[in-house]
Amino acid sequence: MVAASIVLAPLHPESDLRAVEAVYRRASDYLALESGLTPDAAARAFFEERPPTGDDAPLKFGVADDTGGLVAIGDLAFGYPEPTDACLGLLLLVPTVRGEGLGQAILGEVKRLASARGALRLLLGVLDANERARAFWERQGFKLNRTSGPHAFGKRHHLVHRLELPLGGNA
Ligand SMILES: CC(C)(COP(=O)(O)OP(=O)(O)OC[C@H]1O[C@@H](n2cnc3c(N)ncnc32)[C@H](O)[C@@H]1OP(=O)(O)O)[C@@H](O)C(=O)NCCC(=O)NCCS
Repeated sequence: MVAASIVLAPLHPESDLRAVEAVYRRASDYLALESGLTPDAAARAFFEERPPTGDDAPLKFGVADDTGGLVAIGDLAFGYPEPTDACLGLLLLVPTVRGEGLGQAILGEVKRLASARGALRLLLGVLDANERARAFWERQGFKLNRTSGPHAFGKRHHLVHRLELPLGGNA
């Protein structure tokens, strides 16, 4: 069971590296698709990655279930690629909590946070190979902005579809 109210808790490499690694270990399907990295390497990359421009450091967040265990991780950057954009660099749920509306609920909180920071648009990149995720984002109202690549992701190369969603202004 996942808590009814979604809290995007900030994650830090000093305290949360092993918990993030455990999420990647459980989500080995996504890791195999995306990068082919080990859970350990993916967890380090999760904390290191940040967009080339933008405000501050991105928010690396986690969502816990009602036992306190991490079941989802994500990455939200502000001011990238344009100053009035927010960019969801990653949203990853462990398989046991997928398909229950948690992704949609987290997106709702991400949109609220991004709007509160003044973002007018939310962007993300979905891999061409990740058809289920693309269907999910399109159901949430995202539209294709552009396609680029192939880009290197660890041991893999992918075409990436950049999707965008207009935000309603300040929350
Ligand atoms: C994509 C994702 C964030 C959606 O969150 P979610 O909580 O599963 O989504 P919801 O329950 O709100 O909606 C379910 C829909 O998600 C989509 N989905 C994408 N990947 C899925 C997966 N591996 N398992 C279940 N549903 C998935 C499906 O389209 C599903 O629709 P369906 O029920 O008609 O099959 C989540 O499934 C996930 O983390 N997937 C693996 C990692 C990933 O692909 N992240 C996105 C990178 S751009």
